[in-house]
Amino acid sequence: MDKKLNIKIKPIGLLDIIAFTKMVKKRTSIINAANTKPISPSNVNINALLLHPKKQIMKIVEVIAETPKVKTFVLKMVNDTLPAFFRAGQYVSLKLKIGDSIFTRPYSLSSSPNDSKRGVYTITIKGADDGFFSKWALDNWKEGDIVEVSSPEGNFYYEPLRDSKFVTGICGGSGVTPFLSMAKAIAEGNEDFNLTLLYGSCKECDILFKNEFDRLEKAANGKIKVVYVLSDEKLANYENGFITADLIKKYSKNSPYSVFICGPQVMYNFVSKELSTLNIPHKYIRRELFGEVKRIEMVNGYPVEHLNKFYQLKVNYFGGNTQIIANSNDSILVSLEKSGIKAPSKCRSGECGFCRSKLVSGNVFIVPDGDGRRAADKKLGFIHICSSYPISDLEIELPK
Ligand code: FES
Repeated sequence: MDKKLNIKIKPIGLLDIIAFTKMVKKRTSIINAANTKPISPSNVNINALLLHPKKQIMKIVEVIAETPKVKTFVLKMVNDTLPAFFRAGQYVSLKLKIGDSIFTRPYSLSSSPNDSKRGVYTITIKGADDGFFSKWALDNWKEGDIVEVSSPEGNFYYEPLRDSKFVTGICGGSGVTPFLSMAKAIAEGNEDFNLTLLYGSCKECDILFKNEFDRLEKAANGKIKVVYVLSDEKLANYENGFITADLIKKYSKNSPYSVFICGPQVMYNFVSKELSTLNIPHKYIRRELFGEVKRIEMVNGYPVEHLNKFYQLKVNYFGGNTQIIANSNDSILVSLEKSGIKAPSKCRSGECGFCRSKLVSGNVFIVPDGDGRRAADKKLGFIHICSSYPISDLEIELPK
């Protein structure tokens, strides 16, 4: 990103900007001048707050060991209210405080939307998914512990106006969790689409929720089919190898069909190439966010001469500023968290904009697949610090 921003504003655009800066003042004066006062709080605002609470304080009420490295955590609100309703496939961001440092990680909800009406969320964490956070949670979280959970977020859900009624899901590892939620929602009658899931694992023992999927396939009257694909084992009744274009074609009989993908970064890279040979319209391919990039040097276009460097990072925040040393291998967000600086985040993939910050000076590398900034933000020098990596000394301004 260039240090100097070259912004051309046409005269009409300038008038728009002036009008925009006066908008709040103008609206406030109109509201104050009105005879009738606004309804406060309005039903719309009450419902919005129920669906999008700033945070949900929940208690772990059960821990289920799925495999030696995978656990499901069952959560309930501490105050016995219901957690926010969600769309099957969405995620929540969990917050962890260790010493002075605060970490957040997004996890897909594996429970169904109906479960939230019964007061329950479940999330499933796999040890190797994102290193430190998942390992700490698996080793330490137990029944009775309190966890701060965000409102449900994300766009990885079935939308009848946009998606085909026939969805081919492709997943690997713990990327199966949003599909488990979707399968439950289909079986419970909350979602109306056909799901064929190609579920990749190394070996049979790595498959998660097989019994649950067997039950859901029966309950859904032919609307759910799960195909298990093993890369390191040849067994009867399982596909062998990787999820190739041929395999996708073999099990996607109806046309058009949508493809939903959720899994580790290497799986995205492989499946994206396979899909490119099938000429599926762009709008029918949906990818769940893959979270933080684990090895930035593996990302196309990263200037590798900056790897393993340390840069000065000046951070301006509401009410002060501080200076830290940032490792170039870490995103700016991770560097802040390691230094105990609170920075907002949810998706950690560059999409939600929750960590949007101003780049005052310096240069960053932005992960191309994680550049979810608006066009105006690109021009005005804002970055999403979860998908931006320092390649020089920097000064940034965190959101209030
Ligand atoms: S946390 Fe979502 S864009 Fe950074």
